[in-house]
Amino acid sequence: MHTRTLQQVIRSIPTSDGGGVKLRRSLGQAPGLRLDPFLMLDEFSSENADDYIAGFPDHPHRGFETVTYMLDGHMLHQDHLGNQGDLQSGGAQWMTAGRGIIHSEMPQQESGRMRGFQLWVNLPAREKMKPAAYRDIQPEEIPLINLPDEGQVKVIAGTAEIDGKIILGPIQGLSTEPLFLDVLLPAGGHFTHPLVPDHNAFIYPYENRVEIGSMAERRALEPHTAGVLSAGNRMEVHAGDAAAAFLVLAARPLREPVVQYGPFVMNTREEIEQAIADYQNSRLA
Ligand code: CO
Repeated sequence: MHTRTLQQVIRSIPTSDGGGVKLRRSLGQAPGLRLDPFLMLDEFSSENADDYIAGFPDHPHRGFETVTYMLDGHMLHQDHLGNQGDLQSGGAQWMTAGRGIIHSEMPQQESGRMRGFQLWVNLPAREKMKPAAYRDIQPEEIPLINLPDEGQVKVIAGTAEIDGKIILGPIQGLSTEPLFLDVLLPAGGHFTHPLVPDHNAFIYPYENRVEIGSMAERRALEPHTAGVLSAGNRMEVHAGDAAAAFLVLAARPLREPVVQYGPFVMNTREEIEQAIADYQNSRLA
């Protein structure tokens, strides 16, 4: 057994996207700050409607997957394929842009708290031009497991193994084999989980700091910061004096060249130029 240590820290920076939604970007704030196959992680959290009301009006994507996970709030997704999905507190949306999708995500509330995440997961070269697909995941489809010390784990993607039990998340069968967990720990609580040794993994605390690693090599990770883990076959996270909440993300790296131009992520410059031309000629999707 080799417990992963905290290897790199990527602090989030405040930015805005879409129509002007305020958010914090950790992975993806610069091309060198990705973790193959994860391209970007944005956290949005505000009680102030001015920070989110403009939403994400119609925009394109090609070459990867976008995952939206809502903690609080209500957004409506619409795309050019005619899909329409209600994204509610505790639900998620897994969209494979593939060769192209044009979509919008607009808040369905004019007040109150809006909080959640958007994650971009790359697709392998051979899948970048597959047809777009879209999946709405209702809160009740996400398994919730109670930990012995009053913590809780939600399994959004992949397969969790907790106390010898195997728990399947609603998203399975992708070639990057993503594991996406949302973990709540009480003060002093801890969480351990096996990881595939050659999968890349990071932890993102969104409420309070955590400590990562086994007793001998434990390091603190501040909230709103992505903590990239070293290689190893298990992870260990401890809450401090306050209850903590964090995301766990792990996946098989693609080890392919990444060329990104805004919402298009391909392997070569020529493919990016093609994506731009296709979008301008209404041939993206
Ligand atoms: Co989008």
